[in-house]
Amino acid sequence: MLQIDDLTHVYPNGQRALDGVTLRIGKGLFGLLGPNGAGKSTLMRCCATLQTPTAGHIRFDDIDVLAEPQALRRTLGYLPQDFGVYPRVSAYDMLDHMAVLKGFSDGRARKAEVERLLEQVNLWAVRKKALAGFSGGMRQRFGIAQALLGDPGLIIVDEPTAGLDPEERNRFLNLLAEVGEDRVVLLSTHIVEDVADLCQAMAIIAEGRIVQQGAPQSLMQSLAGRIWIKTIGKSELAALRAERTVISTRLSGGRTVVHVLSDADPGDGFEPFAGTLEDVYFCALHDARAA
Ligand SMILES: Nc1ncnc2c1ncn2[C@@H]1O[C@H](COP(=O)(O)OP(=O)(O)OP(=O)(O)O)[C@@H](O)[C@H]1O
Ligand SMILES: [Mg+2]
Repeated sequence: MLQIDDLTHVYPNGQRALDGVTLRIGKGLFGLLGPNGAGKSTLMRCCATLQTPTAGHIRFDDIDVLAEPQALRRTLGYLPQDFGVYPRVSAYDMLDHMAVLKGFSDGRARKAEVERLLEQVNLWAVRKKALAGFSGGMRQRFGIAQALLGDPGLIIVDEPTAGLDPEERNRFLNLLAEVGEDRVVLLSTHIVEDVADLCQAMAIIAEGRIVQQGAPQSLMQSLAGRIWIKTIGKSELAALRAERTVISTRLSGGRTVVHVLSDADPGDGFEPFAGTLEDVYFCALHDARAA
């Protein structure tokens, strides 16, 4: 269990990137959803011991993360948002090198681990190719292989699906779900479907604060009967916004589909709509902005 308590981080320029974040994250895939600049990477870097928060506490099982960063690092796998370095070295050699850094000093054990991981992330066939020539999806799968070195109990992956095509994204998320069966996996994303499809638990972060959390299914149920939709002309939007709680708008064939939040039937041509996780997300962001 990863326990984050009242975590606050203020950058030297005064930017308050985290503001009293408290979360309990058990085994399985946990989705941290939030827009650009919400504080996702800051939170993940704090949990990965790469940054010391201004205030608060982080525990992972019996490790006090801020007091014993070395202890956490022994059981941590981390895939940063910008992994960045893709040298003209083969996937096999690079992973082998990283395994040495991770403490695999016995050659035979290291070979077995590197081979197992390349198989698991489906890169065995291209293990001799240079990382520099890998596609985005292959790079992310390599990133997971390196994060899995040494069988860590905590895995942190920061926006790993950004820029992947739908097929690669799917493959990557399935891999994460598999990996999360017996450990804590903290995944950040701004893609709602990443969370809807696979995470048992989630939180929404906006401007450094947790504005919603729970199981995706129960968060969706909490909107039952409260989301209404209508297709309108563009010119009607401003008046509607003044009158109702518009949580999202989307263009469709030159018209605008609006979702509004209302406990009672708004009438006026609105149809009831079974809320999706996207509605949960937009409602949470709407509330956060209104607050
Ligand atoms: N080194 C830094 N110095 C000052 N401000 C920073 C620094 N890093 C991040 N910030 C600010 O802190 C806030 C949170 O940034 P962070 O990178 O954690 O967000 P994020 O949710 O990961 O965003 P994204 O989805 O764009 O990756 C933003 O306002 C950002 O501009
Ligand atoms: Mg980020």
